[in-house]
Amino acid sequence: MQNKFENLTVVSNPIVNQSLCTIRSKDTDTQGVRLAARKLTRILLYEATKNLPQTDMEVETPLTKFVTKTITNDITIIISPILRAGLIFTDEAVDILPQATIRHIGMYRDEKTLKPVWYYNKVPMPVDNPEKYYVYITDPMLATGNSLIEAIRVYVEKGIPQENICCVCMISAPQGIEAVFGEFPNVKIIVAAVDSHLNSRGYIVPGMGDAGDRIYNT
Ligand code: URA
Repeated sequence: MQNKFENLTVVSNPIVNQSLCTIRSKDTDTQGVRLAARKLTRILLYEATKNLPQTDMEVETPLTKFVTKTITNDITIIISPILRAGLIFTDEAVDILPQATIRHIGMYRDEKTLKPVWYYNKVPMPVDNPEKYYVYITDPMLATGNSLIEAIRVYVEKGIPQENICCVCMISAPQGIEAVFGEFPNVKIIVAAVDSHLNSRGYIVPGMGDAGDRIYNT
């Protein structure tokens, strides 16, 4: 798909491609899928967090004092994995952003309607300065977009600007991307691949199959 969306970033480089190749292959076992997926999630998170504000800070090295940039510390960074497959992003996320809060969102997809069904929501926090919140919603597969739309809505209803909300996904379908931007045109979407289409059961083709099953060996 040609990228006609200003807020969609498709990350591509040889490591991303190698990792995608590994997770897509039906011959890769769970351990291989997990390893490659974690590599991929780290690269996607690096890209997604380019929007974090930075401030100048004076530090003293063993040689001298100097002023350098670091992530502004009076902001709230939220990583929101959509359970269960979105959890694969969390270990890498807490490694690279130790100051982040993890707010889990539990939704499963009704196999008939393909609509998300909530079973857990860890986002009932009060929000004082919503413009100081930066949210990264993680889900490896952006298929219909229905779960992501529900998750984004929870944060938008708290006043957090769409511009500060980023969906980080490994593989996506054009239909899902259009659905998300149709509801929330100013959120950001970061993916490693935009595949061909969804099949009648809502699976991404060619995709990687059921990401949760592939990652958690179920
Ligand atoms: N969820 C998955 O795990 N895989 C798909 O292809 C679509 C949704």
